[in-house]
Amino acid sequence: MKKEEILELKNKIDMNRIPEHIGIIMDGNGRWAKKRGLPRTAGHREGVKRVTEIVEAAFKINVKYLSLYAFSTENWKRPSDEIEALMKLLVQYINKEIERIHKNNIKVQVMGDITKLPQSVVKEVNRAIDLTKDNTGMVLNIGLNYGGRDEIIRAVKQILEDFKLGKIKPEDINDSSFKDYLYTKEMPDPDLLIRPSGELRLSNFMLYQVAYTEFWYSDIYWPDFREEHLYQAIIDYQKRDRRFGGI
Ligand code: FPP
Repeated sequence: MKKEEILELKNKIDMNRIPEHIGIIMDGNGRWAKKRGLPRTAGHREGVKRVTEIVEAAFKINVKYLSLYAFSTENWKRPSDEIEALMKLLVQYINKEIERIHKNNIKVQVMGDITKLPQSVVKEVNRAIDLTKDNTGMVLNIGLNYGGRDEIIRAVKQILEDFKLGKIKPEDINDSSFKDYLYTKEMPDPDLLIRPSGELRLSNFMLYQVAYTEFWYSDIYWPDFREEHLYQAIIDYQKRDRRFGGI
């Protein structure tokens, strides 16, 4: 798309009704690479470039929370060289981008059990979280070794621990108190969930939180996902009538 066309699209966005929280399932890196006769890791490498661009585009239009699904609890089933490449890319991404992220007042958070990740990743991720912890701009929430079912089971276990300690009673459990046990405890539910690559499924992403999230799908692969696709998703979202079960 030409620069003017992108700008024209951007101007169609109602800046007063930007979705506060956007989730993205960054899918299609492997197929993008295969289509070009490249190794799957080349698709992931190209995918990281889109992460940089989309973080920038989202923060510029005042998205408050951006949740990116980078590595799921099921992704451990992939060949070890692909897992290693993904971990390396993650470290490289933080290394390269963290100063800019910090300068843009973005706060990095993670959802998922990062203790199971390689030490090099844990170190970089914790450095990013620590450096940006007082930032007040957009929250960049990265799903790492994250699964929605795992998150819910972890919450139930923690509630039972608190019950044993007398900190919580069954009658105290409701939607709001349950959310305090999720990784996303300080965030609103996603308003918009974007999934490129043509797959029409949730793949274990934020299962509890997406109850009333608006979905936006596209056939393009994540390495082809540009700012204009983000704008298009937001424009479509703004045309929806969200009733949250009401009329
Ligand atoms: C899905 O494509 C993508 C992933 C499992 C990894 C996403 C990770 C990145 C874009 C890079 C690292 C992230 C950050 C935040 C820097 P796929 O491999 O399942 O593609 P396929 O369905 O075509 O095989």
